[in-house]
Amino acid sequence: MTDKNLSLKVADISKKSKDYLGLDEEAVSNLKEVYSILKDSFPEIINAVLSVLTKNEDALKVISETGLEAEKAVKLLDKWLNLAFSSKYEEDMSEEVFKIGYAHVRAGVPQYLMPLTMGAFLVETLKKLFEKIDDKEKLLKAVLAVSKAYFWNITIMLESYKEERINSFLEVTGMSRELFERMSRMRARKK
Ligand code: HEM
Repeated sequence: MTDKNLSLKVADISKKSKDYLGLDEEAVSNLKEVYSILKDSFPEIINAVLSVLTKNEDALKVISETGLEAEKAVKLLDKWLNLAFSSKYEEDMSEEVFKIGYAHVRAGVPQYLMPLTMGAFLVETLKKLFEKIDDKEKLLKAVLAVSKAYFWNITIMLESYKEERINSFLEVTGMSRELFERMSRMRARKK
């Protein structure tokens, strides 16, 4: 797949995911409001997520193999959290999040850890929101906006996992994408 085709595909998945989740202008504006309420709690959220992550033996293996230090991990997660809450969720965001997915394929992070880690982010973020927001309507808006944003982010990251794996396979084997897709479907039908 050429870079142009890939960009078009990322833009397409991004738009479909936004439509599916209802991550619209209103949700993005609600997200900005939540940002100001939650920003000070980012370090606490990140530490709680890292505490869950570092209990997993596969994550510990990646951390030791890549030499990822706790301080750097905190910085990277903080960068992503700030982006997730302040972004307008336009094209540049899709490209950025797609690249974050790629970085994890490169680092050898098992794919299953990505949605689980996003789940840990959601759990820790919801705990904070329930602690900080008393007004029921405001709380609901915040929960919906955060859930939409996190699910959009993980969808794009998982797409980049898939693309990276398929592209490496196609490059090594010289197989066409069409043949690959046809073979995958045929194999799945046999199961
Ligand atoms: C929701 C899940 C996650 C988010 C949002 C996230 C965020 C990030 C970000 C923003 C980067 C920098 C990407 C770049 O260079 O462009 C990164 C890199 C990295 N992440 Fe994650 N991450 C997640 C899950 C994980 C998990 C489960 C592991 C497992 C140990 C992990 C390990 C790493 C490693 C090893 C790097 C590369 C660090 C380097 O370049 O030295 N991440 N992550």
